[in-house]
This record gives sequence, structure tokens and C-alpha cells, in this order.
Amino acid sequence: AQRKQIDKVLALFRLTREQLVGVRDKMRVELEYGLKRDTHPLATVKMLPTYVCGMPDGTEKGKFLALDLGGTNFRVLLVKIRSGRRSVRMYNKIFAIPLEIMQGTGEELFDHIVQCIADFLDYMGLKGAQLPLGFTFSFPCRQAGIDKGTLIEWTKGFKATDCEGEDVVDMLREAIKRRNEFDLDIVAVVNDTVGTMMTCGYEDRNCEVGLIAGTGSNMCYMEEMRNIELVEGDEGKMCINTEWGGFGDNGCLDDIRTQYDKEVDEGSLNPGKQRYEKMTSGMYLGEIVRQILIDLTKQGLLFRGQISERLRTRGIFETKFLSQIESDRLALLQVRRILQQLGLDSTCEDSIVVKEVCGAVSQRAAELYGAGLAAVVEKRREDQGFEHLKITVGVDGTLYKLHPHFSRILQETVKELAPRCDVTFMLSEDGSGKGAALITAVAKRLQQARR
Ligand code: BG6
Ligand code: GLC
Repeated sequence: AQRKQIDKVLALFRLTREQLVGVRDKMRVELEYGLKRDTHPLATVKMLPTYVCGMPDGTEKGKFLALDLGGTNFRVLLVKIRSGRRSVRMYNKIFAIPLEIMQGTGEELFDHIVQCIADFLDYMGLKGAQLPLGFTFSFPCRQAGIDKGTLIEWTKGFKATDCEGEDVVDMLREAIKRRNEFDLDIVAVVNDTVGTMMTCGYEDRNCEVGLIAGTGSNMCYMEEMRNIELVEGDEGKMCINTEWGGFGDNGCLDDIRTQYDKEVDEGSLNPGKQRYEKMTSGMYLGEIVRQILIDLTKQGLLFRGQISERLRTRGIFETKFLSQIESDRLALLQVRRILQQLGLDSTCEDSIVVKEVCGAVSQRAAELYGAGLAAVVEKRREDQGFEHLKITVGVDGTLYKLHPHFSRILQETVKELAPRCDVTFMLSEDGSGKGAALITAVAKRLQQARR
């Protein structure tokens, strides 16, 4: 009888082929809505123009600074690009962003960022150098050019005040001015998906999609200019940051959302927003698992029916724990040890159930990603009128990199749901900092050509 109750909960996470086809088709509709000028009233996939119109051609060169804000780590980087040989050297330093700063005032956040840049310049012996800077800022921005980005709304764990509706490049410039110690030429603001696509595009000309499966969930791709109503001109292509994390915010995924998804949403910093992201990305998967475990415990099916203080604590299951628990090489005893580390006392049976719960949640996430990606590659195939499409997807993010099954399930799902597309997945080796530098290099070259 206990087994039946557990299976009933796990079954909520198992999606049928029809359901996945449904997700793919709805994503396709949302992509089209978002591209329309008078954005459809129910459109939730933002489809933001990025003003990135081409891939680097190998002639880029020089020294650049890059900032990378919004993933697991905040990094400052120095990137040296040598032309011809396509070689890139990078030096970077990771800095912490304390919770009080992530959720303090905008001024404090940007002062902190500039403090970190100052430390880095000091550390590299570059004080006083005036380098062009590319800013990877992994949040939804409305762009009116490559060096302008108005933050639409915070996502993930950020909630600093007085930033939404403001230009993040201006905020960074002002913070640099306040410090009055050095001057930097901020050339480009870039989403992490775009940086990832660029990094991979530097090596593979077929790379026209950037995918992040990490703290957050997002995708960008090269779209035909003629399909982008918001931007003048019909020639060539431009990269669109889809911000697909907001998919479902109009209720279109309600048929597959569970009570656990709703609980996670309600307990988050941005209730009602980013519903697809909350079913798929690293910041939330552990929370879904925790909600299920609480429910199973309440039903007396786990942890001897005792809900511990630990289990009540938000955020205890980070992506790395899920990845460890689901590793096939791990004996159950080790799963128990991990749970113990998390402060959860489990029996052997408990640890089996926990592992199954993790598996159900991450499998659904990977399948949902696959359905979303299938919609995009199919769109690209149809738009170009091809029978078959060969395309490369640049990917980054801790979920994709660390989880033992996520990438395989994602790839299998895309194959199944977009059978006429031959999709190659390319892991972005050095994160989006390199991509931001490449975009900065291209922008700088164009700037100089115009003068
Ligand atoms: C990194 C990129 O490699 O991947 C970041 O440089 C990006 O910009 C990140 O945000 C996404 O992964 P995660 O798991 O750190 O959110
Ligand atoms: C969130 C952000 C998005 C970013 C993604 C991955 O969805 O809104 O801009 O690309 O996380 O980091």
C-alpha cells in the first residue's frame, strides 16, 4: 500500500509523449508571439533582440575585461584574443556576492561589483589600464543597442532594489564614477546564453543556439531579421534572447504543473513568474524534491513520519547533491551518507525513495528542456525551408555539466521530438566570459570602422 502511494506521487512527474509534443507545440506558439511587435497580451516568452548579428570571424584581437554575473559564481576576467590562430587566453577570479548584497540596494550591488573589479585589476597588476569591457549580465534586459540594457525584472536569487527599469550599463558606469579610481570602456552587455553561443560559434560555424541549464534556464538563437518585428531591417540575422524561463506564466503549462511546483513557486522571490524555469533549472529542482519529501513524510511514507527542521529549510538540495544522489556508481549506503550530511537521518528504504524522487524530478526537467529545444530547431529548419537541418547548440550550466543523466535525456528527447534535425551539442569550455570578450571585440571593431 505504501508503495502505491509513492508511485502515485512519482507518476505526476512522468510525461507522456503526447504531453511532451504539447509542450513543444506551445513553446513554438510562444516563440512566434514574442517576435511580434505588439507583443501578444498573453505572450510570456520575451524574445529580446540582442543586437548581436554575426559570429566572430577570427580577426578579432586584443585584451578585454569581462564580468560574469548571474550564475553560480560572479567572476571578473581578463581575456586575451589573438587573431589568426583563434587562440584565447583567460585569467579569472571568482568573487562571492553575499546574500545581503544580492537582495540589498542596487547601489550596494554595483559598488560591490566595482570593488571586485578593482581587486582584480590590482591582482593582475593592471591598475590604470583602460580596457574595453564586456558585461555578461544573465537576466532579462530590453536592449536598444549592444551597450544598452534595461533590466526588465530580476530572476533567480537576485532582488536588489532600484534596478528594474534601469540601464545596467549606466548603473555600472555610475558606480565606477563614484569610486573615481579607474575608467573603463563598457562596450557590450550580453546574456549568458549569448556568450555561450559565441564561445562555441568561434569554433563551430554551425552553432546558432546557446543553451543554459544551470541556476536558471534559458536559450538564445539566431533569428532571421525579417521575422523580428521590433527591429528595423530585413537583411541577415540577429540573436534573440528568448528568456524562455517565463514560458507557462500565462497558465499554458498548468495541465502538467503539480502541487509541488506550485509550492516552490509560492515560496520563491518571484511568485507567478518563470514557471518553466522553476520546473527545469538547478535553483529549483532541489526545492521540488524537498516539497515532495515533506509530503511523503506527512503521509508517513518517509523518515518515520518525522519532518525535521532540516527538511523544512529552503535550498538544502543544491544541484551538486542531486547529481551525487543520482549517480549510478553510488551505493545506497553512500546516498544515506549524503542525506546524513544534509542532516537527514534515513533508513535504507528512505534512501531508495529519495533517489527515485530525485530521478523523477530531473528526468521531467530534461524532457521539458528537450521539448523546448525541439521547438526552436524545428522553427529554424522550417524558416530556412530545409528538409533536414544540421545545427549545433552551445551549452553551459552546472545542471548540464554535473548531472549524470540530464544531458543524455535532453538529447534523446530532442531527437524524438525534432526528428528532421541533426543536433550537435557542444559544451562551452570557458563559460560566457570568453563569449562576452569576443562580442566586445567585434563591437569594438565595428565602432572603429564607423569612425
Ligand atoms: C557559466 C557562465 O559557465 O555558466 C555563466 O560563464 C552562466 O555566465 C553559467 O551563468 C550558468 O551556469 P550556472 O550553473 O553557474 O548558473
Ligand atoms: C534566468 C535569466 C536569464 C538567464 C538564465 C540562465 O532565466 O532570466 O537571463 O539566461 O537564468 O542563467
